[in-house]
Amino acid sequence: MNILVLGDIFAKYGRKLIIDELSSIKEEYNIDFTIANGENIANGKGVTRKSTNELYEAGIDVLTGGNHIWDNKDVYDFIQEEKRLIRPANFPPPCPGRGYEVFKVNKKRIGIINLSGTTFMTPIDNPFNTFDKIYENIQKLCDIIIVDFHAEATSEKIAMGYFVEKKASIIYGTHTHVQTADERILAEHTGYITDVGMCGSLDGVIGMDRDFIIKKFKSFRTSKFALGEGERQLCGCVFKVDDNSNRCVEVKRIYKIFS
Ligand SMILES: [Fe+2]
Ligand SMILES: [Fe+2]
Repeated sequence: MNILVLGDIFAKYGRKLIIDELSSIKEEYNIDFTIANGENIANGKGVTRKSTNELYEAGIDVLTGGNHIWDNKDVYDFIQEEKRLIRPANFPPPCPGRGYEVFKVNKKRIGIINLSGTTFMTPIDNPFNTFDKIYENIQKLCDIIIVDFHAEATSEKIAMGYFVEKKASIIYGTHTHVQTADERILAEHTGYITDVGMCGSLDGVIGMDRDFIIKKFKSFRTSKFALGEGERQLCGCVFKVDDNSNRCVEVKRIYKIFS
């Protein structure tokens, strides 16, 4: 089975890129299942019903979240009922929504877990302990376990990779919007990459307009929020999972630029 994961899709620019290019990417890599990080799909901040539907229609099966998942209040209207939208499991109660879900794909039961890091991020519940608790609940219900670890620190991401090896078939990082070139297979079982990157403007600064961000860094003053445009980058990874062993046997990094 070939599973495609896409890095944070940023705002309308990123959504349009996915609408334009996803079907040919899926065909090129013979994809069976597609997961994307969606924390920034609505104007760079959070999710709305409209923006999630647009991406499901474009061919994304499941959207995961991150620290920005609550930025648009629309999310509270539908996250509880929407099985295809998963937010970090280590947000403490009473946060609505689900931190993991199991999907049936080609007779395989795929458990997707979303976790947030806590180093240089909001200090929510411990992601390592949260993984342990979820794994205990779902290991017998799943053939394949996939983790989106939404975290800032590369060290925390690498540590989580080793922590879940042989338990998860795939673990990948999101959040920094910058793709790393360290894809590999851990313990001949677990496909890994520290960060899959971002789908959106290449000419901006991690999705936002470059002048807006430079001004902010230079003067510490905020001006009108502006999104990046120009060339577009599509970042992702294809993980091939063996049908017999349920282990990841190949990782292919995708980094494509479109004008
Ligand atoms: Fe993001
Ligand atoms: Fe994030």
